[in-house]
Amino acid sequence: MAVPTVKLSSGYEMPLVGFGLWKVKNDTCADQIYNAIKAGYRCFDGACDYGNEVEAGQGVARAIKDGLVKREELFIVSKLWNSFHEGDKVEPICRKQLADWGVDYFDLYIVHFPVALKYVDPSVRYPPGWTSADDKIELANAPIHETWAAMESLVDKKLARSIGVSNFSSQLLMDLLRYARVRPATLQIEHHPYLTQTRLVEYAQKQGIAVTAYSSFGPLSFLELELKHARDTPPLFEHPVIKGLAEKYSRTPAQVLLRWATQRNIAVIPKSNDPTRLAQNLQVTDFDLEKSELEAISALDKGLRFNDPVAYGMDIPIF
Ligand SMILES: NC(=O)c1ccc[n+]([C@@H]2O[C@H](COP(=O)([O-])OP(=O)(O)OC[C@H]3O[C@@H](n4cnc5c(N)ncnc54)[C@H](OP(=O)(O)O)[C@@H]3O)[C@@H](O)[C@H]2O)c1
Repeated sequence: MAVPTVKLSSGYEMPLVGFGLWKVKNDTCADQIYNAIKAGYRCFDGACDYGNEVEAGQGVARAIKDGLVKREELFIVSKLWNSFHEGDKVEPICRKQLADWGVDYFDLYIVHFPVALKYVDPSVRYPPGWTSADDKIELANAPIHETWAAMESLVDKKLARSIGVSNFSSQLLMDLLRYARVRPATLQIEHHPYLTQTRLVEYAQKQGIAVTAYSSFGPLSFLELELKHARDTPPLFEHPVIKGLAEKYSRTPAQVLLRWATQRNIAVIPKSNDPTRLAQNLQVTDFDLEKSELEAISALDKGLRFNDPVAYGMDIPIF
């Protein structure tokens, strides 16, 4: 079954289910991309910060060479890292990332965080990460309007078909929409039943900005980072509401969580290193939960955020 898409303000269609590349290991990344394409994935959510764009591109190239897919059937997403927010740094780093992937345009290029960090030359350290070599956070002064104007010129130059933002609040979106010549096509945010961000989702969707959920399984993704509050939070897969619905629909808890998002037109980008779970995560648009069931899942909201720089010990209180 072809994955349904969501129509973006740019006119392009984005698959509602994609494969997230954060923490996908370099030595398996190319094979995982290749196998994901074989399994039916067409959308890949990458980023400079994930450090695996070269390998991701190798997987794509092999799949195209073997005739599994054509470039135009793929939807490749990448992100602008915080160290490249200054106007003159955006295009060069985007071009480097395109070269890493081995493609000549991104379907979607996203501002990863509303945080500008000091520039790091890619020949010195790449990906630059949050902190300098001596573990300091070094902020830069590039305002978002400067970064956004440079993002817009990527669209003019056909280096990105659509541009978007991630980890932005409603206030930042409101401000951006006041001056954007090219509107953000998507907003990528942490979104799971413990953090529903209802007002932000509603505001973005009303503005014609498609929402993509990351970390759809809540604490699960953060256990391997040993985040204490992820360890202390009851797993969503074990929650009676989620388990009960999984039993009712003969699906897995993961599929119920992903359907809760896709049924509300929120795209998902789960990551899995396991071929069975990878295939399972794609089958999340072919059954429907009842309205009261969607509401029961949304009612689990605790305002509990995991992907927060402060939780990683950094003094960057953006949320
Ligand atoms: N914009 C941002 O700031 C941002 C932040 C975080 C993430 N993201 C994007 O969003 C993507 C997804 O988020 P995420 O990586 O945090 O986590 P996620 O997809 O919510 O969860 C990944 C975890 O769930 C497990 N898993 C996956 N499918 C499963 C299934 N069907 N059943 C049981 N367990 C399953 C994975 O283990 P196995 O691999 O062993 O299956 C892994 O431990 C990322 O890869 C990245 O592309 C963006």
